[in-house]
Amino acid sequence: MRTDVAIIGAGPAGLLLAHLLAADGIASVVIETRSKEYVAARIRAGILESSSVELLRAAGLGTGIEAHGDEHRGIYLQWPSERHHLDFTELAGRSVWVYGQTQLQADLVAASEAAGRTVLYETSGAALHDLDTDHPFLTFVDATGTPQRVDAVAVAGCDGSFGPSRAALPAARTSTWERVYPYSWLGILADVAPSTDELIYAWHPDGFAMHSMRSATVSRLYLQVPNGTDTADWPDDRIWATLATRLGHGQDGWTLTPGPVADKSVLPMRSFVQSPMRHGRLFLAGDAAHTVPPTGAKGLNLAIADVALLAPALGRLIGKNDGALADAYSDTALRRVWRSEHFSWWMTTMLHISGDPFDAQLQLSQLRWVTSSTAGATGLAENYAGLPIGF
Ligand code: FAD
Ligand code: DHB
Repeated sequence: MRTDVAIIGAGPAGLLLAHLLAADGIASVVIETRSKEYVAARIRAGILESSSVELLRAAGLGTGIEAHGDEHRGIYLQWPSERHHLDFTELAGRSVWVYGQTQLQADLVAASEAAGRTVLYETSGAALHDLDTDHPFLTFVDATGTPQRVDAVAVAGCDGSFGPSRAALPAARTSTWERVYPYSWLGILADVAPSTDELIYAWHPDGFAMHSMRSATVSRLYLQVPNGTDTADWPDDRIWATLATRLGHGQDGWTLTPGPVADKSVLPMRSFVQSPMRHGRLFLAGDAAHTVPPTGAKGLNLAIADVALLAPALGRLIGKNDGALADAYSDTALRRVWRSEHFSWWMTTMLHISGDPFDAQLQLSQLRWVTSSTAGATGLAENYAGLPIGF
């Protein structure tokens, strides 16, 4: 097979890149290890920044967001006996949208199928070759067990944290930064109407808790738990009782309504950046290049922002033989990546219990400042609602 851009990974980064390239007349082939159904069902992120929504709308992918998304003006930040609303629209002039990654993934698959683009699921053994030439290629085995080769002008590594692209950059010319956190999230998806109109981020001496949502009838909630936690130790009753305590059930008349748990999982938390995000004709985008802890909902938005920069860069490189944007891609993308890395680390360390009483006092002081000072609140609002794509 021959194409313009060989894309590894059919998550949001890979499928959105294929979509944006096609709008510019650039062909692509996407390969994916998992089945279409598996990728579609993965429960992951839930919040889109305003710049992500603008980009998706401009790319003709806004219909689902308009029909089923929910625009939020801000969030609640709380600690025992205090709950404060931060209005991002007032503070920073931007809102966020509740729209699940599963819904966005479905929109991307539908657009890809309507346009007849090539996405090969259930492939194995992807290997990247001749990346420092102008004729790189991929080899892999397709779903029928047949060895395949895709020749391209460029390769996009959109294969997440565990794909082969990251390791294809020469170690001697690559820097990495990593932080592993001493706690994880236990996340549930519940078939019950949300007990709040906007997301609640709660500091509590027993551990962080968050109330998010997916729709008027589906809630998404998270609890800080120790690393290595087994979901078997968390029957539904224990989860709801812990959520009620940490989210402040009964305070000022607020109640948490429990419901049937449809999904339960434990997420470890990590910060990671690999630089540069390019080697020769290989370009990394999304989780393939960086990971953030989930507090602040940046992972999916960063993947979208990378691709928003990469698509025009590849368009210019391939369509006009002009490599200026491609040469600038890594540095431009990494500015925003590091801003989001900092914000995610900051939200995480402000809200999770470390076990150190000094940390707890600093956290409470920070929370009081962020919720009482316009300067503090605006900083959080600007970062949460998202900076412009080219920041
Ligand atoms: P991915 O979505 O990981 O897509 C990469 C794709 O590449 C996958 O489909 C994978 O199967 C495929 N692939 C891997 N190896 C190969 C190979 N060898 N060959 C071909 N294909 C391959 N972010 C938030 O903002 N909020 C959240 O609540 C949140 N929750 C999350 C929960 C989990 C369990 C995880 C893992 C992530 C979560 N994230 C969250 C992060 C967010 O989902 C990611 O940042 C986002 O999915 C990144 O998109 P991506 O396309 O870069 O990577
Ligand atoms: C969700 C996840 C997050 O990490 C976050 O900060 C907000 C919302 C969610 O899954 O809905």
